[in-house]
Order: sequence, then structure tokens, then C-alpha cells
Amino acid sequence: MKVIAFNGSPRGKRSNTDCILQPFLKGAQSAGAETETVYLRDFKINHCLGCFTCWTKTPGVCIQKDDMPALLEKMRGADIIVYATPLYIFTVNGLMKDFMDRFMPLADPHISRRGEYYSHPSRYKTRRKGSSRRGVVLISNCGFPGRYNFSALEETFRIFTSVSGSKLMATIFRPMGELFAVPGLKGSFDWYFDAALKAGREVVEQGHVTPKTQAVLNKDLVSPEDYVTMANAYWDSQIAVPEKKEKGKG
Ligand SMILES: Cc1cc2nc3c(=O)[nH]c(=O)nc-3n(C[C@H](O)[C@H](O)[C@H](O)COP(=O)(O)O)c2cc1C
Repeated sequence: MKVIAFNGSPRGKRSNTDCILQPFLKGAQSAGAETETVYLRDFKINHCLGCFTCWTKTPGVCIQKDDMPALLEKMRGADIIVYATPLYIFTVNGLMKDFMDRFMPLADPHISRRGEYYSHPSRYKTRRKGSSRRGVVLISNCGFPGRYNFSALEETFRIFTSVSGSKLMATIFRPMGELFAVPGLKGSFDWYFDAALKAGREVVEQGHVTPKTQAVLNKDLVSPEDYVTMANAYWDSQIAVPEKKEKGKG
């Protein structure tokens, strides 16, 4: 089984996203999967031009010359695709969005009905053995406390996978993900990374994350109140010129 992960963070290997993704992939490997991580920031991915040439004059082929054809080829060979993205304005970040917008050559322009939704059928057959549906895993982390931050992203992927005929196998959402970048807290979250590893193993072995593992993944890393205090103190220490409060004003 081939698992391909696309990490959209501009921070690449140093991202909080990768702190979750890598143990997840290690778990997938422990269940026998072959894994690959693609750091989108290392590739040339232009914005979609919206010209629909890939549907008309050159069906299945984009007119732009960049790294997307090679990335699409990698994707087509995978049984499970992991989208790993930091949360930017309640959704995937720009790099991931540009990447996903460029999936257009994979679709046939005709509109067909799929259950309660309308969609463009895939131009190609999925490759997943023993199942007609390719698996999708969504991993995201954000700066604020609260799982509600991911609700729009979750809904986007719920519909995106439904209309594209794939199976959303797991969602791993990590609020307060910036804690992974705090040097003083190194080692504090090994319990969480262990759960991410288990999740990777379970997805390959069982096709989903067990409720027990999901419950650990959903736990707060620290209390939201402590996090807010810590975060605000951090920003105060980083702001180059501290704002001088002028008495009697404002
Ligand atoms: C442009 C931008 C938009 C962001 N939007 C949100 C947001 O809507 N909600 C949130 O909780 N955090 C938001 N964040 C914070 C990131 O999600 C957070 O820093 C995350 O840990 C970055 O992950 P990474 O290290 O994997 O890139 C935003 C950060 C940036 C730079």
C-alpha cells in the first residue's frame, strides 16, 4: 500500500504540521505501508488560471509548465493521500489551495449526479486495491484553542471526498499546535505523537482511526487559559518596539 502525504506548510520540515504528520507516517510504515512526504514549498506550483484548457483543447493536460504534472502522477499512484496543512483563515493554507486547484486536469468536465451532490467524474480510475475508493486523511493544526476552528475545513473535505468518490478515513485536528514549536516543552507531548503514530497504523490496518485513539488525539495539549497566557507573553517578548501606553489616552 502506498501512502503519499502533501505537507502544505511554508515551514516545511520545521512545521507544526510535520510534527503530527511524521509520526502518523511512521505508524503507517509499521503496518507495512510505503510512505512518501512531498513538501509543497519545494515545488513550483502556479495558481490555476481558470482557462479550462485542460478540459477543452488539451484534455487532461494543463497549459502551464511547472511541477504539477509530476505531483499529479505521484498522487494517482497512491492508495491513501494525506493532506497535511496548517489552518489559515479557517481553511487550508494558500500553497495547499493552489495545489488542490490544479487538480482540474484529473476531472472530466461533464457534470454528473453522485447521491445528493453533483460532481465532475474522474478522468482516471482509482488504483486502490480491494476497494473502488481511494483513502484520504486530513491533518491540520492551528494557533487558537478550540476544535471549532476546523469546522469549515472539515466540511470542505467531507464534501470534497464525497464528490470525488474517495473515502475520508481520518481527520486529525490539532488546536494550539504552536506548542510543538516551544523548545521548553520538548518531550511534553510524546503521548500525543504516540497517538498520531497509532492513528497511522490503524488507518492502514483498519481503514479508520479507532475511537480510543481519536479520543487521545482530541485532548487539549494544555488548558486553553494557560495557552493564552503563554502565547500573549511570547508575543509581548517578540514585538520589536513595545507599545508605550500613554496615560489618559484611548
Ligand atoms: C496567514 C495565517 C493565517 C492563520 N489563520 C489561522 C486561523 O484562522 N485560525 C487559527 O487558529 N490559526 C491561524 N493561523 C496560525 C497557524 O495555524 C499556526 O501558526 C500553525 O501552528 C502553523 O502551522 P505550521 O507550523 O504547520 O505552518 C494562521 C497563521 C497565518 C500565518
